[in-house]
Amino acid sequence: MPDARPTDVGIEALFVDLPRQFLDLGTLARANGVDPEKYYFGLGGRRMAVPAPDEDPVVLASNAARGVLAAGGVAPTRVGLVVVGTESAVDGSKPIAAWVHRAADLPSDCRVFDVQHACYGGTAALGIALDWIASRARPGRKALVIATDVARYEIGSPGEPTQGGGAVALLVGDEPRVVRFEDHPEAVHAEEVADFWRPTYRSTAVVDGSYSLECYLRALDGCWGRFRRDTGRRFSEFEHLLFHAPFPKMAFKAHRRLFEAAARAGELPSGAEPGADFERRVLPTLWANAEVGNAYTASLYLSLAGLLENDAVDAAGARLGLFAYGSGSCAEFLAARVGDDAAAWRGRTGLRQALRERRELSHAEYLQFRAHGEELSRNGTLRVPTRSTGPAFCGTWEHRRVYRDEALAVPGSSSQPLGRDGRSAR
Ligand code: CAA
Repeated sequence: MPDARPTDVGIEALFVDLPRQFLDLGTLARANGVDPEKYYFGLGGRRMAVPAPDEDPVVLASNAARGVLAAGGVAPTRVGLVVVGTESAVDGSKPIAAWVHRAADLPSDCRVFDVQHACYGGTAALGIALDWIASRARPGRKALVIATDVARYEIGSPGEPTQGGGAVALLVGDEPRVVRFEDHPEAVHAEEVADFWRPTYRSTAVVDGSYSLECYLRALDGCWGRFRRDTGRRFSEFEHLLFHAPFPKMAFKAHRRLFEAAARAGELPSGAEPGADFERRVLPTLWANAEVGNAYTASLYLSLAGLLENDAVDAAGARLGLFAYGSGSCAEFLAARVGDDAAAWRGRTGLRQALRERRELSHAEYLQFRAHGEELSRNGTLRVPTRSTGPAFCGTWEHRRVYRDEALAVPGSSSQPLGRDGRSAR
């Protein structure tokens, strides 16, 4: 097999930041006049993260970036590349990476940009970072990859119970203690399809639901077929399979697709049964997705954090297969291996703390948050702050997005939002 990446590269640390509120899917179902079992069992979710008006993708990304540097014990000056994968851009020109660069106090000799391809953007960003590290463009420097998104559909639409949001920051380098990516020819699939998209004039996505499932599974077939053909590897070789999870049941459908293909090819060990196989290899990666809902680019890496934070699983040294899908569409299958000290990451990814700090919303509060968030993005001022520490979105001022951030504010004005010069707005 060709040696695509000669250097040992992968994830050295990861960190999750989540909205500090959630709505139980049962509450949503009752408000929508739907049987709660449809959301709990039909879609496989339990709760969905609901961002407060001051929690936009910039805020989530900035917190995750700071968290990953602290968790990895890496000084900001060692970062030479920041790539944000997102499909919830807050500006048509300025990348989220620019705000993250300031919030994480990164050096000026740093490449900083966003990439977009629906939910695939995080994996596209990771690919750029892995190749940048392997190329030794800046020996000794690390790359920071952040997948950050807020998933919003129309109130009352079929997509509504699959909303969510969050950010996962990955520190990428040549000491891949968390996950090392294996050398193999790229297993990608692309085709132009109208399955899910968000016109620039809308804050909510438009989706052709059943067609989007079809496109996802077709892209999975394409990626898996190429991976299988070019590497000779088998479905049963992976200890865990992580699938992009717009809702957990989608991962169930994806696993079933690969299981059945492997069965047809006579590649399964005798006695293999799809339900038990799913429960052993996929379910342990999905519990956080069931709590958070869809976090678009971040969903696959939320599954990774969930696996590392799963007390019932010893993931040390486990071979992973990861499937990323972005509507529109582009998809990729990646093979990786978990580091030997995986257990050391339990309690250190930020995931459990972020879940513990969440507050349950009533359906009325959820609707209020949505309305206030829309108003704030148009040209408003924050009325109800929810985040007491770290960055928070405060509204727009002369067409600029204003963020409060005590680490950046001038001394003595720690509660003031950032403004024109990025230091104080009022
Ligand atoms: N009890 C238990 N189960 C029930 C039930 C009940 N009372 N009522 C329905 N169900 C089951 C159905 O049988 C179905 O299960 P199966 O898929 O296993 O058959 C499941 O609940 C969903 O029911 P429907 O298909 O009728 O649901 P729906 O039409 O309301 O929409 C959806 C489902 C299309 C996924 C919708 O939520 C949606 O549009 N979501 C957003 C799009 C999406 O996530 N697409 C995924 C692929 S694209 C992608 O991955 C990119 C991305 O992140 C968006």
